[in-house]
Amino acid sequence: MTTIRNIAVLTGGGDCPGLNAVIRAVVRTAISHGISVWGVKNGFGGLVKNEMMFLGMSDVAGILPRGGTILGTTNRDNPFHFKVEEEDGTITYKDMSGVVLENIKKREIDALLVIGGDGTVKIGSEIAKLGVRVVCVPKTIDNDIACTERTFGFDTAVGVATDALDRLHTTAESHHRVMVLEVMGRYAGWIALHAGLAGGADCILIPEIPYDIRAVQEKITRRQQKGSRFSLVVVAEGAAPIGGEMVGVERGAGSTEKLRLGGIGNILAEQLEQLCGVEARCTTLGHLQRGGSPTAYDRVLATRFGVAATEALLRGATDIMVALRGDKIVEVAIDEVAKGEAGVPVDGELVRAAKAVGISFGD
Ligand code: F6P
Repeated sequence: MTTIRNIAVLTGGGDCPGLNAVIRAVVRTAISHGISVWGVKNGFGGLVKNEMMFLGMSDVAGILPRGGTILGTTNRDNPFHFKVEEEDGTITYKDMSGVVLENIKKREIDALLVIGGDGTVKIGSEIAKLGVRVVCVPKTIDNDIACTERTFGFDTAVGVATDALDRLHTTAESHHRVMVLEVMGRYAGWIALHAGLAGGADCILIPEIPYDIRAVQEKITRRQQKGSRFSLVVVAEGAAPIGGEMVGVERGAGSTEKLRLGGIGNILAEQLEQLCGVEARCTTLGHLQRGGSPTAYDRVLATRFGVAATEALLRGATDIMVALRGDKIVEVAIDEVAKGEAGVPVDGELVRAAKAVGISFGD
């Protein structure tokens, strides 16, 4: 049915619980069809440097529950804008896509399976436009890739954040404090929203809804007046006040990120302590949300994505991403993904449900 004999799998972007579950599913599915699998090491950098390992059944044995990736590191290397150190030590950025094509040819790779977030998926699409068959699997704990209702890793991150809220709840109650929990979510507040709902937060602050600190203060003060002398606030790292900026550390030229986010939680805790007249503390969960073993849900979703993407490649599909819609795995054109919306709908059912149970978004 196809001329495909060898495929290669790579992971790009930040790590995410469930990456290994996808790799395992890809290898098992491919081998059952008599197809060989190369594992590209260290993201797209491995395609440029020709760093690959042959993946057999024994290489993927026991990796289903393991966090991280067995493919060396995962990173934000971009072969179209690749960091090269010249002999005199100067750093330049070069288009290395020609080298990528040579390496793909050398290894007789017929198709590429790319696991990554929106940046990685875009690079995958650029490579597809050079004539390589590419199928992508959406990956991010932030759940902010368009055209799919879920990305694997999200459920694990929400579980970690919910557990943190449950723990903060009892200590907040014992000290009559305001507890602020800062979670990941650069442009989308999915983790904050789901964890806030699951963990009984009083306020959820997300990038999609700029907040007014006075509205947050009012919510906390109303609770105090009714006798609830503690409050829980969940804030996504990318949230910002009305008319304000995201908080983080500026990165130098050449960095893949302009702003390393982090710090909004501490700022909020300080402001709320002043405004509400109660002690406030901040906990920043950071990479605890990305590390460790995936939940059962994420293992299942990652496996389904891995199987579907491999089968699509074997059918000869290209420039598509597998996605979850209405609990079915579907295929979408990568162009559609680039155009689509991935944030929390501000008037959506989830936000309305949260408001209905008394949660404030600071709006
Ligand atoms: O995976 C996406 C994300 O979790 C963002 O929410 C966050 O800003 C970013 O990763 C941080 O990643 P790193 O610290 O690896 O640059």
